[in-house]
Amino acid sequence: NYYAILMAGGVGSRFWPVSTQSYPKQFHDMLGTGETLIQKTFNRLSKRIPKEQILILTNAQYNDLVLEQLPEITQQQVVLEPAMRNTAPCILYAALKIQKENPEALMVVAPSDHWIEDEQAFLNNVEEAFRFCAENDALMTLGIQPTFPNTGYGYIEYDSASDAAIKPVSQFREKPDYQTAKAFIAQGNFLWNAGIFMWSVKSVISAFKANQPALFELFNSGYDSYNTDRERAFILENYAKAENISVDYALMEKSNNVFVLPAHFDWNDLGTWGSLYDKLDKDAQNNAVVNAQVLAKEASGNMIRTSNNKVVVVDGLNDYIIVDKDEVLLIFPKTKEQDIKQVLQQVKDTF
Ligand code: GDD
Ligand code: MG
Repeated sequence: NYYAILMAGGVGSRFWPVSTQSYPKQFHDMLGTGETLIQKTFNRLSKRIPKEQILILTNAQYNDLVLEQLPEITQQQVVLEPAMRNTAPCILYAALKIQKENPEALMVVAPSDHWIEDEQAFLNNVEEAFRFCAENDALMTLGIQPTFPNTGYGYIEYDSASDAAIKPVSQFREKPDYQTAKAFIAQGNFLWNAGIFMWSVKSVISAFKANQPALFELFNSGYDSYNTDRERAFILENYAKAENISVDYALMEKSNNVFVLPAHFDWNDLGTWGSLYDKLDKDAQNNAVVNAQVLAKEASGNMIRTSNNKVVVVDGLNDYIIVDKDEVLLIFPKTKEQDIKQVLQQVKDTF
């Protein structure tokens, strides 16, 4: 009864210029290990979930990339979105498809672009959550001990009186502002949302029905076509009508049957060049180097990557991102890495 859906439709714009709209970060070997992030995620999940029960959710434009990078899956396993509508619509669509195949299914929803080193601990957590979801009407998420007021994450307030491994959640708050995030962390009983969800198809579908009735009606009206030849036509005609909303806002903030399992593994969402730097091995001068040969003088703390194993000479520059890709060279302070998204927009407007 175990299924997985792998979300691979994001653009990863803070990893520009390597990650681009036509070739986003999940399809790149960001860690320099010989495997792309989506390949790593697929391999991790397939140790516990039957390969044919793993669906890849992505935008139609990435279909070929998915099939090329995951040769073990079939076209039927690639669930194509004709428009970008964030994570809630694609999760509901996939849940209804899976329910049609197996009404008792349990599913894990996994981002395709995270770093998780301890696969066994991760799989144990998923297993534990699945056992809970098989018995309870629950929306489960994995929680990470927060270390600073990151405003790009969801925050989960759990019941501190509970000494159970799986804790009831009293509040889920997506991307709070800095002051709120700070107050949450000071309070102590908050975890970051890892963005990895587990539930039965039954529970998630009823949560959509209760909290997002319009979205539910839209996708449920095509239910009879799912897993048949008519499905594509239905989706092509209707997908773009869905509201653009993430599952965090659509369900997690609204439902009162949310539970959290504090993760027993090290996690990093590889959201920025700096978080990638943190996870890579460093050279003698503390530079992280991928696909480049670096001669560094008085230069440390830099994240350096080239497209073609170039020789890079750096002198007198610390804590910078130095990345080249085709016709673009980015030299940017790590402290301002969040701004790369906006810079990319400016570049598009200017050139
Ligand atoms: N198929 C599909 N379609 N996938 C998508 C889409 C879409 O339209 N949009 C985003 N994704 C994928 C991304 O590729 C990524 O793997 C995952 O869904 C999450 O999307 P992000 O855009 O990266 O979300 P976020 O980082 O802002 O926030 C989420 O993740 C945080 C942890 O990394 C939330 O769940 C937060 O609560 C959480 O803390
Ligand atoms: Mg993210």
